[in-house]
Amino acid sequence: MSEAFSYRADVLHCADVPLTELAEAVGTPLYVYSAERMRANVERVRAAFAPLGATLHYSLKANANLALLRLLHSLDLGADAVSGGEIERAIYAGFPPQRIVFAGVGKTPAELAYALDVGVGWFNVESRDELRTLDRLAGERGVRPNVALRLNPGIRAQTHAHIATGHLGAKFGMAAEVVAELLAERAAYPHVHIGGLHIHIGSQLADVAETVQAVRAAQALAAPYADVRVLNVGGGIPVPYRADAPLPTPQDFADALAPLLRGWRVKLEPGRSVVADAGALLVSVIRVKRQGGRRFVVTDGSMAELLRPALYGAQHPIVPLRRSEKATEAAAVVGPVCESTDVLSQDAPLPPLRAGDGLAVLVAGAYGMVMASNYNMRPRPPEVLVEGARWRVVRRRETWADLRRLEVET
Ligand code: LLP
Repeated sequence: MSEAFSYRADVLHCADVPLTELAEAVGTPLYVYSAERMRANVERVRAAFAPLGATLHYSLKANANLALLRLLHSLDLGADAVSGGEIERAIYAGFPPQRIVFAGVGKTPAELAYALDVGVGWFNVESRDELRTLDRLAGERGVRPNVALRLNPGIRAQTHAHIATGHLGAKFGMAAEVVAELLAERAAYPHVHIGGLHIHIGSQLADVAETVQAVRAAQALAAPYADVRVLNVGGGIPVPYRADAPLPTPQDFADALAPLLRGWRVKLEPGRSVVADAGALLVSVIRVKRQGGRRFVVTDGSMAELLRPALYGAQHPIVPLRRSEKATEAAAVVGPVCESTDVLSQDAPLPPLRAGDGLAVLVAGAYGMVMASNYNMRPRPPEVLVEGARWRVVRRRETWADLRRLEVET
């Protein structure tokens, strides 16, 4: 598969675009995404799961930029949404409502009503109360939506504790007993069609065996009901943030699940595996200072633009835009935000750097811009989409005036 980011004549490129020039033209910090890499990622997941006849629903929460969504829609994906806002955006970007799946533990009655009114394809229901509300709202509208009951299989997946969702200490899904009861009582919910089960035990999953276990648990619950044969296996396919950690591939997941899922209609909600390694955050060095025996490289990028290192201790590779022959030395790459956790990397091996040098924080296409904030009154960065040698700004940089826009001044 083509690398999204690679050096040519010592300058880091995204596809055919030299990132030193892009950083100069647009300014930093900025997010840059490779269209080719997204296409390749979709093909990779699709090819792996083709023997299972799976339908793919791109998980908007990973990156909801409109230009990216339009590109992903053009590849014939459905969408996975977790809020009214994501549903509206998916439809705006062109996704047909019937190919949207709607998940989430806290869907409000207003969001459920909206989703029914626009004709969302599947509701992943996460509690008895939600099922009752959905049934009532559907009855009032004379519609009968498809429902997949989200099972919490009680499996603590091997991933960061903050993104493990399939254990009973987490708020997500319903315990097996509750799912079993709801399936047995289906007649009590005449305005919904309970046709499937949904699982998502976590993101960045390190072990395929846990997903297999969860799928088996879901199948055992559905076994008595021949018309409950849709299985939505959620997202969770990991991406390598560091070269030293071998992780299962989409093919590994597909190979492990294929023997189990014959006769089932399979859905998948990939997010990270589609966009993560297609994106980078470009930042510039403001200054370098030494303190307590460490080299601090202070950049114009921070936890406000990329929260993952601060929130999960995530380790994103950081590389210079201009490659150097000089020896590398560990650097703490930090931002200007007034928080000790405002660290992009604790120990990036980097050559000597000075003010103005550019760096790329890699594998930042997923859960990057979507989690960015205006903390410290920082305007959110622009986003650039690269296609071959062409690039375009697909979201402009916020301005200080933008930050005032919603405030009501008397
Ligand atoms: N489906 C459901 C029901 C989900 O909750 C998620 C992610 C996905 C699909 C997509 O999963 P993926 O393919 O991306 O693993 N902010 C965190 C990740 C949170 C994931 C939340 N749910 C991070 O930066 O690592």
